[in-house]
Amino acid sequence: MAKNPKIIYICQNCGYQTPKWLGKCPDCNQWDSIVEELFHDPGKTGLLQLTMSAPQEISSIEFNPDSKIKTGLDEFDRAIGGGIVPGSLLLLGGEPGIGKSTLILQVAGKLSLQNLNTIYLSGEESAQQIKLRAQRLSINSENIFIVTGTRIEELFERIRDIKTDLLVVDSIQTTYTDTLPSAPGSVGQIREVSGKILRWAKEKGIPTILIGHITKEGSIAGPKILEHLVDTVLYFEGDASHTFRIIRAIKNRYGSTNEIGVFEMNETGLAQVGNPSRIFLEERPENASGSIVIPCLEGTRPLLLEIQALVCPSPFGMPRRTAIGVDHNRISLLVAVIAKRMGIEMGDQDIFVNVAGGLKVDEPAADLGIVAAMISSFLNRPVDPEMIVFGEVGLAGEVRGVIQPETRIKEAEKMGFKKCILSKSNFEGCRAPHNIKMYSINSVLDLMDILF
Ligand code: TYD
Ligand code: MG
Repeated sequence: MAKNPKIIYICQNCGYQTPKWLGKCPDCNQWDSIVEELFHDPGKTGLLQLTMSAPQEISSIEFNPDSKIKTGLDEFDRAIGGGIVPGSLLLLGGEPGIGKSTLILQVAGKLSLQNLNTIYLSGEESAQQIKLRAQRLSINSENIFIVTGTRIEELFERIRDIKTDLLVVDSIQTTYTDTLPSAPGSVGQIREVSGKILRWAKEKGIPTILIGHITKEGSIAGPKILEHLVDTVLYFEGDASHTFRIIRAIKNRYGSTNEIGVFEMNETGLAQVGNPSRIFLEERPENASGSIVIPCLEGTRPLLLEIQALVCPSPFGMPRRTAIGVDHNRISLLVAVIAKRMGIEMGDQDIFVNVAGGLKVDEPAADLGIVAAMISSFLNRPVDPEMIVFGEVGLAGEVRGVIQPETRIKEAEKMGFKKCILSKSNFEGCRAPHNIKMYSINSVLDLMDILF
């Protein structure tokens, strides 16, 4: 006699399991994220069944770095650490409509030029829709195979006889496996399907890209286990109101994280942006107060960004602090430092700080730029447009050095900047001659004389 199926409750946010329903997940504190699912014995489902290898000496293990497949889409290759590693599992997350499917179709298009086959499983769009997109991207190749459907077992069956160099699953939330009765997109299904794909990919040595939707909070929908399972996690970001898109590795077993690739979305797909500083500075206002350029580092890549601040008297005696692209708390801290150490009191002012272009900056190197932008706006005095500043600001008002000053200065030089304010330690640390006039400072107090 068949046993009654056992029901368990799983948090759709973090994968926490409980025998009883709860309104709030005790593990990740998410409300209303726990749903009913049929219990499935993990021992029987595959994830744990990878056959264990015999112990081997690390020196005897061979790995050839040249085995990475360069797609030829340089910005993509850069983000994933040089190329696609055979047998690796890559997860690409991003908001709907950001261009995930477009990007991966372009990757497939590039691979087809090297005579490499891509199998593209779409659970969301019809073959005609994908064809339409391919036409827009001018991709027409015998090396790209479109499979539409959602049952993962069927996929393996269908593509058994086709030479596969890359498998794409668009999206992981729409696919499901027979072995679980729960609906596609549930934690159980995502975990199970990914496990199956992982085993298949590792066994056959075929690299696989999983496309994943992200939740309102911005993380990849489904349990964290998905991020643990895959080798590389990429996020495709961008602002709906801007055309540029950034691909960012937040986990990479085969390369460094924080590398970014920059694209611009236009009528014929995603165009690579080899010189991102240009687009972020393109529409800079001339001679406006509260605007300054800072050199940031994204991974190993320098990027010039414009910090804008607007400081004006608060009409309601309840001053507002609004930060877009920079940490809100950092602004409050810097306002306090400016008041205490420089004697410039902005406590009764509304303060808005924005990183132009919709980018996020979380480097302390931006501190000095934020300070300069706020003071410039407060005093309503523009900063020299050929000036860049960078440095971390401490609570005592001291300006501290940041990593890789050379790289930052070189980028500024390349973009035609003529002056640079930096910390004394960074100034002493860089030896190469530059065509840029350097001002080294110890404290934010020294800033005023140089800026205005
Ligand atoms: P898509 O790749 O379908 O996004 P995702 O898979 O992340 O949901 O991209 C959809 C958007 O991209 C859509 O709003 C139209 C735009 N787009 C272009 O601007 N140019 C193009 O050449 C293509 C193919 C899409
Ligand atoms: Mg899509």
